[in-house]
Amino acid sequence: MRVLGIETSCDDTGAAVYDEGRGLLAHRLFSQIDLHRAFGGVVPELAARDHIRRLLPLVRSVLEEAATAPREIDGVAYTAGPGLAGALLVGASLGRSLAWTWRAGAIGVHHMEGHLLSPMLEAERPSFPFLALLVSGGHTLLADVAGVGRYRILGESVDDAVGEAFDKTAKLLGLGYPGGPAVAAAAVRGRPQRFRFPRPMTDRPGLDFSFSGLKTFTRRTAEQHRLDEQTRADIACAFQEAAVDTLVIKCDRALSSSGHRRLVVAGGVGANRLLRQRLHGLAAEHDARLFYPRPEFCTDNGAMIAYAGWLRLRAGQRQGPEFDVFPRWRLESLPPL
Ligand code: KG4
Ligand code: ZN
Repeated sequence: MRVLGIETSCDDTGAAVYDEGRGLLAHRLFSQIDLHRAFGGVVPELAARDHIRRLLPLVRSVLEEAATAPREIDGVAYTAGPGLAGALLVGASLGRSLAWTWRAGAIGVHHMEGHLLSPMLEAERPSFPFLALLVSGGHTLLADVAGVGRYRILGESVDDAVGEAFDKTAKLLGLGYPGGPAVAAAAVRGRPQRFRFPRPMTDRPGLDFSFSGLKTFTRRTAEQHRLDEQTRADIACAFQEAAVDTLVIKCDRALSSSGHRRLVVAGGVGANRLLRQRLHGLAAEHDARLFYPRPEFCTDNGAMIAYAGWLRLRAGQRQGPEFDVFPRWRLESLPPL
């Protein structure tokens, strides 16, 4: 079975072709970063319009790279949610229509399931069950993963997602957009002793996260100092330390209470080097193994959608002739395979 995957949930247009026997044949991404940079964040209407412009040529080029004719496509997987409604509608309507035209199966994929399964695209892949830390611009959650579609949320953010906190910190410090990589780059020149930021919700039991207090603390600190280059780097460093530490403390607890020996980290913030480094240390302490996708598959991409869609199509799941999108969609509501 060969599946075309389409991702348009936010500001990246992604397409990929996954083959049951040969693995990932091709993947392409068009990032809208330049389009949204002037606004310091994603403008939903502009995102949707740009997906309309980019998606079809991107699909064409990925099929070409995969040396695949439309009649060789058995299934089309598109992100059906969660995400920006207008952006999702572009991928869903084109994906569903292509499947209809090509007489292929169609499946709407949950974006976070895509992230969660993305380490399976690598040679070193985890087997089930495992603990997953999903950290992106829209979500921060810890999940117990027993199999495909068998997810139990152990903890999640009660307010901002950690990626969002990175983005807001970058904006505050004038480090540019997108924020995560910019904060990480500035933090390298920061002095870790200068500031110590709070680790929210780590002083009480439980696996939920909160990042709005850290965001406010960061803003106050920035307001109280002259923001020369060194101070901005010091604040970026203190923020990153606190954010990463908070995630690691919760993973530590979750590994202890669940007894899992495999930990998966995925989603855009999963590309953060300090986080990976600390999680490696944590996994070693628990005699566990850490798994993650290559950096380009941490952030949004079509490959993870093609892969997750293939798993569900192979199991016989199909979307009917109609289509719908779900801007809010609980991971736990997915059917198990
Ligand atoms: O998964 P993703 O591409 O999109 C969503 O589903 O949200 O995640 C994007 C988020 C952004 O907030 C971005 O700033 C963050 O991931 N990010 C990072 C890094 N690379 C991307 N955060 C910290 N360090 C990074 N290296
Ligand atoms: Zn994402």
